Amino acid sequence: MADLRIYPDRPTAARALAGMIANIAQSAAAVRDHFTIALAGGSTPRTAYRLLADEFAADIDWMSTYVFWGDERCVPWDHAESNVRMAREAMLNHVPLALDRLYRIPVQLTPEAAAQAYQAELVRFFETRGRVPRFDVMLLGMGADGHIASLFPGSAALEETQKWVVHTTAEGATVPDRVTVTLPVINAASNVIIYTLGAEKADAIAQIFLGGDQPVLPAGRVQPRDGRLTWIIDEAAATKLRASTQQDSFTLI
Ligand code: 6PG
Repeated sequence: MADLRIYPDRPTAARALAGMIANIAQSAAAVRDHFTIALAGGSTPRTAYRLLADEFAADIDWMSTYVFWGDERCVPWDHAESNVRMAREAMLNHVPLALDRLYRIPVQLTPEAAAQAYQAELVRFFETRGRVPRFDVMLLGMGADGHIASLFPGSAALEETQKWVVHTTAEGATVPDRVTVTLPVINAASNVIIYTLGAEKADAIAQIFLGGDQPVLPAGRVQPRDGRLTWIIDEAAATKLRASTQQDSFTLI
């Protein structure tokens, strides 16, 4: 069962996310002298990233922090659509984090080569020797269609069980070519946080939490094997849940 945390508005949700990441970072660094996080792209996390670089910056040991991405659009890192650019502008350019601790998806390569190179990077870093990498935090946003990272409904990437990183396409998106981690990597994480706000996400959230006979959306397939799954949403995204008579079918924190 996932923890579902509903906050009154975007600012309180952003603070809750930043505080949760800071707490996990402190625990991870204390236990293992390093903290690994895979960042989400899109626009929603921007405010929380800014808080991590400002109000919460002192709570994180940036010298033992290693930053990855759950997915990336196949554009240069300085492109307006780049997830790396968004995270650098909101957070990473403002904290003492050396470039060699940023593990960016190498989108200067072809999408297939970038996926293979990123998977090799994960193997090297996590010294997995065949085990799936286990992030301390896998931060995910969610699209209105229920996609997470770049795992879209009905895509082959969503069904991938062997590869950890694949090239996929976002039909109709400004930047269709994407490189994304797959569900095995997401579900191996110690802490998966799905952070999604706004009324446009309410239908997907209701479909995931209220179930019924509708197909399981990609975000509904996030089920960490032995990690913790926390949803952080705002009231706008929870409207359909609040209207439901099935409020006992999910745990409200
Ligand atoms: C991306 C993301 C994607 C994003 C959702 C939500 O590269 O776009 O990783 O999964 O998190 O589409 O995007 P918004 O936060 O912009 O709504």
